[in-house]
Amino acid sequence: MGRKVLVTGATRGIGCEMTKQLCAQGFTVFATGRDQSLLNDLKKETGCLGEVCDLADASAAVALYEKARRALGQIDVLVNNAGFNPGKNPLVEVSTEQLDASYAVNFRAPYLLCREALKEMSARRSGHILNVVSSLARTSAPNYSTYCSLKHALHGFTQCLAKEARLVDVKVTGVYPGGVDTDFRIEDRPDYMRADSAARMIVQCINAPEDVVVHELVYRPMIESNF
Ligand SMILES: NC(=O)c1ccc[n+]([C@@H]2O[C@H](COP(=O)([O-])OP(=O)(O)OC[C@H]3O[C@@H](n4cnc5c(N)ncnc54)[C@H](OP(=O)(O)O)[C@@H]3O)[C@@H](O)[C@H]2O)c1
Repeated sequence: MGRKVLVTGATRGIGCEMTKQLCAQGFTVFATGRDQSLLNDLKKETGCLGEVCDLADASAAVALYEKARRALGQIDVLVNNAGFNPGKNPLVEVSTEQLDASYAVNFRAPYLLCREALKEMSARRSGHILNVVSSLARTSAPNYSTYCSLKHALHGFTQCLAKEARLVDVKVTGVYPGGVDTDFRIEDRPDYMRADSAARMIVQCINAPEDVVVHELVYRPMIESNF
């Protein structure tokens, strides 16, 4: 029987391709995003379960975990993939509202979903949590202070989580992709990785042998040299 997976940010980009690949491999997926029509298309195409949820709302994020758990029976794998790019802005132009909006989705929601997952998975002493961070969490960039610093926070949190979760036999993987050509940015970037390629790497991690935990998955398109 295939494992049960909750994928956030499944309506587009990396999460959408991941859901297609996981369903094709026999996993049962509960997919979520905000766009109802894209989610309906994905459910029709893959047979996945799912519900829309705005992860900017903290209580909706916590409630989502329980809805997915009920729909799936149990959650074996959580992929915190949803995130958004607030665009490039000099710090002096960043509003408090923009900072809060980025915090809510890029850090608070994955933090809360990890907390809920660890409650369930630690009781069973098994499970796998993957947080899609970014290669930017290992470097810095001008005019990108909100996104970059919140991904740094998610990186730090993921490392703390890995050490807590290890004690209860739960695997944790931090995923650090470089540029991927998705709706994440306005302009097309055909020189970046394709969304299905980026997703394949994550699915490979989910399929790692039972006795292996991948702590960090760092990968980039060949054009990037910021390492
Ligand atoms: N693309 C890159 O170059 C790149 C590089 C490194 C890391 N990443 C990370 O990879 C992850 C996926 O990115 P992507 O490139 O696939 O982006 P994408 O194509 O823009 O997809 C983002 C997904 O997140 C969902 N999402 C955004 N805000 C949400 C909210 N408030 N509530 C619920 N869902 C929300 C979107 O759902 P709706 O559209 O339905 O709202 C969509 O399904 C993100 O965490 C991103 O930071 C991306």
